Amino acid sequence: MTRALITLDDYRDAARRRLPRIVFDYLEGGAGSERGLSRNREAFARTRLVPDRLTDVSQRRQAIAPFGRPWESPFAVAPMGLTGVVRPQGDLILARAAARAGIPFCLSTAATSTIEAVRRASDGELWFQLYVVQRALADRLVARAREAGCTTLVLTVDVAVNGDRVRDRRNGFGVPLRMTPRILLDGVRHPVWSLRQVRQGFPQLAHFVVAGDGDVEAQAALMARQMDASFDWTALARLRDDWRGTLIVKGIVSAEDARHCERLGVDGVVVSNHGGRQLEDAPAPIDLLPAVADACGLPVLMDSGVRDGADVVKAMAAGARGVLVGRPLLYALAADGERGVDAVLAMLRRQVDTTLALLGTPDVTRLERRHLA
Ligand SMILES: Cc1cc2nc3c(=O)[nH]c(=O)nc-3n(C[C@H](O)[C@H](O)[C@H](O)COP(=O)(O)O)c2cc1C
Repeated sequence: MTRALITLDDYRDAARRRLPRIVFDYLEGGAGSERGLSRNREAFARTRLVPDRLTDVSQRRQAIAPFGRPWESPFAVAPMGLTGVVRPQGDLILARAAARAGIPFCLSTAATSTIEAVRRASDGELWFQLYVVQRALADRLVARAREAGCTTLVLTVDVAVNGDRVRDRRNGFGVPLRMTPRILLDGVRHPVWSLRQVRQGFPQLAHFVVAGDGDVEAQAALMARQMDASFDWTALARLRDDWRGTLIVKGIVSAEDARHCERLGVDGVVVSNHGGRQLEDAPAPIDLLPAVADACGLPVLMDSGVRDGADVVKAMAAGARGVLVGRPLLYALAADGERGVDAVLAMLRRQVDTTLALLGTPDVTRLERRHLA
């Protein structure tokens, strides 16, 4: 009998069982020997919460509005590429679930559904994450994001080149997927996943497929994360001129870079090490938050290693104005599809609520550093 899905570990275990090894490794893996991946979790584990006592916590509030628009919970869906490999229509499922939860959904440049398809599927707040593979292509994507009514553009700046994903190299993971005997056997062992994938056709990088004719070169460049490595502060200033909506820079790890973003008129930054998938020895974002939040006047978001509501509360107490959730939602997607994503979002919401009550702090926006030890 399969175990009931109660904790995030249950979802993760179910995802591991239900996905071929090559797909689970893609979503789970980090760069190099995965020191960065472990560090993100260790940093949360050693951060403790110090409650206030005898405060009135009968009415609790976790809504925030870091950029003026309301979020019902202090977390949003992180941009993640290739969700269609985990589950057909993964992006649409995540976007609909986010809309139901009243939180933003960020679509990746490396998505398996287009911005337009996601817009049709959901009327929630839609963000678009930009990777600059080629400048002309990036300009077109920005225009499409604007057309589709995205409120926010998230420029990811920690992928000048690809981090060394050892698991993916070992497994021969790539798009389009090259069928080797080992991969075929992996598929045969996971017939439910294989059948779903066969029905939908193996997913493509949707933004790089023009009128049904795959732009193979751009897809290959994105898969190998061959970005335009010359993209610099001048290019960011130009992007700021071009995009009048909310502009967020994701992948900041230093106070100096956060200040630079502020000077260029950026609206917010995400302190992130890309979930340990890029520079293996980058510091854990939860440790960096106080310094970055103090250094600039911008709303600072964070991600990397958030696994439960207590982590969300710790990040907010450390200076974050909101948090992005990554891998937990892919575990949910793999384990139980749309119902799973709804359930994990509800679980996080419940955990934030319980943590606020036990911490004696009824409003998530009133968390302070003194709540941490
Ligand atoms: C499978 C996977 C794909 C990702 N793809 C992207 C992406 O396309 N663009 C991006 O900016 N970040 C991407 N990220 C990084 C996430 O946005 C986020 O920074 C990271 O997942 C946070 O770490 P955590 O999942 O361990 O909490 C990806 C992460 C995962 C796990």
